[in-house]
Amino acid sequence: MKKRTQVGIIGAGPAGLLLSQVLHLNGIESIIVERQSPEHILGRTRAGALEPGTVNFLRSAGVGERLDRECHSHKGIEVCFQNSRFRLDLEELAGDNITIYGQTDITKDLMSARAKLGGEVIYNVANTSIHDLNADSPLIRYTKGEEGSEIKCDFIAGCDGSRGVSRESLTEKISTNFEYKYPYHWLAILCESRPVCDELLYIHHEKGFVLCSMRSPSISRYAVQCGVHDTVEDWSEDRIWGEISERLPPEVATTLDTGSCVDKTIVPLKSFVTEPMNYKRLFLAGDSAHIVPPTGAKGLNLACSDVYLLSKALVQYYKSGKPDLLESYSNNALERIWKAEWFAGWWTEILHIDPNHNLYKRREQIEHLKKLSRSHGAQMALAESYLGKSY
Ligand code: APR
Ligand code: PHB
Repeated sequence: MKKRTQVGIIGAGPAGLLLSQVLHLNGIESIIVERQSPEHILGRTRAGALEPGTVNFLRSAGVGERLDRECHSHKGIEVCFQNSRFRLDLEELAGDNITIYGQTDITKDLMSARAKLGGEVIYNVANTSIHDLNADSPLIRYTKGEEGSEIKCDFIAGCDGSRGVSRESLTEKISTNFEYKYPYHWLAILCESRPVCDELLYIHHEKGFVLCSMRSPSISRYAVQCGVHDTVEDWSEDRIWGEISERLPPEVATTLDTGSCVDKTIVPLKSFVTEPMNYKRLFLAGDSAHIVPPTGAKGLNLACSDVYLLSKALVQYYKSGKPDLLESYSNNALERIWKAEWFAGWWTEILHIDPNHNLYKRREQIEHLKKLSRSHGAQMALAESYLGKSY
């Protein structure tokens, strides 16, 4: 089958769906091709902390209704080290809140919004490939079942995440990849239990980092630092609750509600950026172009800010014929991306225990945390980065 569209989008994660939705609201046609089924996509559990700018953009894309109804808005976060705790009052320090709403729910809302407006999303495709990038109308080819198909496009948006085909096409042509792998992973769980705190709690502990987060008053999310060779089978529920309890401050540990885990995943921690993010008529957005360690909860926020910039550039091109925002897309996006990469890497490294660190480096981390707990200036800088305001 042969099809024609203005923007061919590869990947129906948050980046691809949001781009297609915003383009539609601006009168621009798109078709999404996606390797997985909708059920598979909605089965993935990922971070759920949204910057104020992300929330506003989702609202403007017409997917803010359930988010506004069901989200939890947090005025602060807590940090714990050596059994002492301090709170960063985000509202007082940087004038805003962080919004807790799961990425799975955002994806669900985007899928319904696309379906309501008749958006074309072709799921369960295989063998996606990109062709004719040097021509005026590049092609996306794919197979579905036995049938081979192609979509002729004005532009291709590579929103196919970290294991897609778009990045490879770009790397072959011109891009340089920057990558750093951290010497620890996360065991991330979602469980049916009351959260231990009202706000997010980030714990630096000798035995390893723990994040206490939540999705609702009865669903908790925890991330526990584990080894790079650990598997989910190494972590029985008894071991998970034992380790969390040991790493929590004692007064919090006594309130720990140990419900059953509905999802258990090992998450490698990696920083990655590909530069530039476009070649001719192919533009990358989201995880296809960059990965942040999840500690800073920046992945989804960055995917949304890429889509904001790319949709603005495409709207300008179709409305006025001007290509300048498309030409500056990569530079503009990368400016924000590198700031978020830096923040996420820094926040990760002061909170985790590096198995290769000597005592000096450990001691240095504690001094850093002490400074954060006492210095208004350091807290303000952290709050601004955390909320995506210093970009
Ligand atoms: N053909 C079609 N679809 C593909 C292909 C392919 N060759 N390769 C990958 N995909 C699809 C994946 O199945 C996935 O649904 O692209 C989609 C990419 O979605 P995400 O991985 O969710 O990436 P993105 O939309 O950029 O969202 C970024 O995800 O990983 C988190 O922290 C990250 O929150 C951030 C968000
Ligand atoms: C999450 O709830 O999944 C989450 C929250 C905050 C983070 C990272 C992950 O910094």
